[in-house]
Amino acid sequence: MCGIFGYIGHQQALGLLVEGLRRLEYRGYDSTGVALLNDGEISYHRTVGKVGNLQSILPANVPGSQGIAHTRWATHGGVTLENTHPHRSFDGKVTLVHNGIIENYRALSKSLIARGIEMVGETDSEVLVHSIALELAKGVSPETSVRRTLKRVRGTWGLCVMFLEHDLLICARNGSPLIIGTGNGEMFISSDPHPLTSHTQQVVYLEDGDLAVVTKDSLKLSSLQGGSQEANISTLDEDWGESDLGDAPHFMLKEIYEQPDALRQCISGRIDREMGSGRLGGMQLQHNTLIQVPHVRLLGCGTAAIAAEIGQMLIERMARIPAVTHIASEYRNNDPVINPKALYLAVSQSGETADTIAAVKEIKLKGGQVFGVVNVVGSSIARLCGQGVYIHSGPEQSVASTKAFTNMVGALTIFAMQLGRTRHLSKDQGRELIQELQQVPHLMESYLENVGPIDEAVELVSSASSVLYLGRGLSAPVAKEGALKLMELAYIPCLAYPAGEMKHGPMALLEEGSPVVVVAPNDHLKEKTLSAIHECKARGAKIILIHEQGDEIAEEAHVSIPVPKVHPLLTPLLTVLPLQLMAYRTAVLLGKDVDRPRNLAKSVTVE
Ligand code: AGP
Repeated sequence: MCGIFGYIGHQQALGLLVEGLRRLEYRGYDSTGVALLNDGEISYHRTVGKVGNLQSILPANVPGSQGIAHTRWATHGGVTLENTHPHRSFDGKVTLVHNGIIENYRALSKSLIARGIEMVGETDSEVLVHSIALELAKGVSPETSVRRTLKRVRGTWGLCVMFLEHDLLICARNGSPLIIGTGNGEMFISSDPHPLTSHTQQVVYLEDGDLAVVTKDSLKLSSLQGGSQEANISTLDEDWGESDLGDAPHFMLKEIYEQPDALRQCISGRIDREMGSGRLGGMQLQHNTLIQVPHVRLLGCGTAAIAAEIGQMLIERMARIPAVTHIASEYRNNDPVINPKALYLAVSQSGETADTIAAVKEIKLKGGQVFGVVNVVGSSIARLCGQGVYIHSGPEQSVASTKAFTNMVGALTIFAMQLGRTRHLSKDQGRELIQELQQVPHLMESYLENVGPIDEAVELVSSASSVLYLGRGLSAPVAKEGALKLMELAYIPCLAYPAGEMKHGPMALLEEGSPVVVVAPNDHLKEKTLSAIHECKARGAKIILIHEQGDEIAEEAHVSIPVPKVHPLLTPLLTVLPLQLMAYRTAVLLGKDVDRPRNLAKSVTVE
C-alpha cells in the first residue's frame, strides 16, 4: 500500500505533488508528507492524517521544481509524525519515500545503530535512507549508493530517492508498483497511472528488479545487478473516466449509482447474440482449448474472492467444469498442484494486490496459464498475466468495492457463458441468458430509483452488537459480500454463512432482536432458505430480507427489501445492491469515514 508521487522538471513541484497525493490517497491515509529540493536545501512538510491535513499545514509557497511525496498505510511502526515519509538521512543528504516491506530491517537497523546512527522512527523504510547516505558518503554515485543498499535488502519496495547535491531522482521497484511518466523537460513518478494522465500519456512501467535514474529530460534504466536496459514506453490510452466526486457526498455512493453504466461498459461488445455465447477477445482462448479444460481455479482477496466464488458457481452450472475459488493469500503457501491444461483466473480490481500477484507467480512458475480479471489497465496483474479480461468499471476510489464487484461478476458471467457454449449450454439457453444480462443495467437503475426501506434495516443493524448474513447457492457469496461491506465501513462484527450451515453453530449467537440479513431470490433454493428464516425467527431474530419483487416470501420479513426479478443465474447483480446501500447508510449514520475506513487501504500491495 502507500502512495508515492515524484516530480522533476521546470514547473513548481508543490501543487503537482499534492494533487498527485490526493489522487493516490486511496492507497493509504494514515499520514502524509512532501519534500522539495530548492537552492541546495530540502524542505520537509509532514503530518499525521490525510492529504487535507497536509494541505492545511503547508505554507502558501514552497519553491522547488523537484520533490517527492508519500501517503502512508502503516505497516511497521505506529501512525506518528516520526514514522511519516519522506524520511531523511542522518546527514540530511538523502531523502526517500518507500512503499513495501523491508523484511530484514531489524538486522540492518542494528548495524546502523552500531555505527552510531540514530533511528528517528520505527519504520522499516528508515534503514534504507541511512544506508544509502552511508554509501554515498564513500564517494560513489547516487545510483551506486542505492544499488549497493538494495542488494543487502530482503523484501519489497517501490522507492523514490532524492539527493541534496544531485539534480536527479532514483526510482526502484521490487514488488510494489512504480510508473514513470515522461513529459517535455519533466518527469513524473507515481504508484499508479491515474495521477499521470493529466500530465502525460507516455509512461514506463518499472518491472521488479528495475532501477531508474531520472533527470528532468532523461531516464536511464538498469537492473539491480547493473546491466542497462531499454525503457519500454507505453501509451496510456485508457479513458479512465470521471474521477471527481461531483455532487455526491461520498465516492462510495457515487460508485454504487454508477453500477448500471459500469456494467453496460463491461458487457458491451463482448456477447455474441447470434451464437448465444460470450466473446472475450483478451482471453485468447480457442474453442478447441476450451473443450479440453479439466478444471478452473479462481483466485482473489476480499471482495474479488467473493466475486470469484460466484464465477466458480456459474462456470460449474453453465459449463459443467469443476471450478474452485482460492483465497490468494493462502494459495501459494500451500504448495499448490498446478495442471498446465487448467485455467487459472486472477481476479483483482486494482491489479496490484500483493497476495494475488504472489499466487499468479506461483502458478506461472509451475507452468500454469493465468488470466487476469482486472479493472486497472496496465496494472501489475494485467501485465504479469498478459492475457485476460478488463472489467471496465472505471476508477473505483472508495475503499469499499462496489462497482468493481458487480463488473467482476458480469465479466465472469460472460466467461462462464463462453465456456459453457463449448460444452453443455445450448444456443437457446445462451441467448436467453444474454437477453437477461443485457436487461440487468436497466433493472439496476430501476432498483436504485426506489431502493426500499433501507433505513429501517439500518436502524436494526446500527445498534446491533453483531449481524448475521445468510444466503444459499449464488446468494451465499452475496451474503458474504454484504457482511464484508458492513464490517469494513461501520466496524460492526458480521458473520456470513450459507443458510443451511447456520444451525451448525452460528445460531447460538441469536437472541431476541438480533438482526439477520437473508438473501433469498426466487431460485431453486428459496424454500430451503425459508426454513432457515423460520429457525431464526423462532429464536427472536429480526429478519431483513432481500427478495424478488412480488414474491410472497416478503411476508416472512420484518424489513422486506424487494429487488427486480431476473434470471436465477444473475441474481447476485441485483441482490448485492441493497446490501451495499445498507452498509453505506449505516456508516454515514454512525459518523464513520465512508470512503476511507480506518486501518484499510484500497490497494493492498504488501503481503
Ligand atoms: C473490498 O470492499 C475491500 N476493500 C477488499 O476486500 C478488496 O476487495 C481486496 O483488498 C482485493 O482488492 P483487489 O480487488 O484490488 O485485488
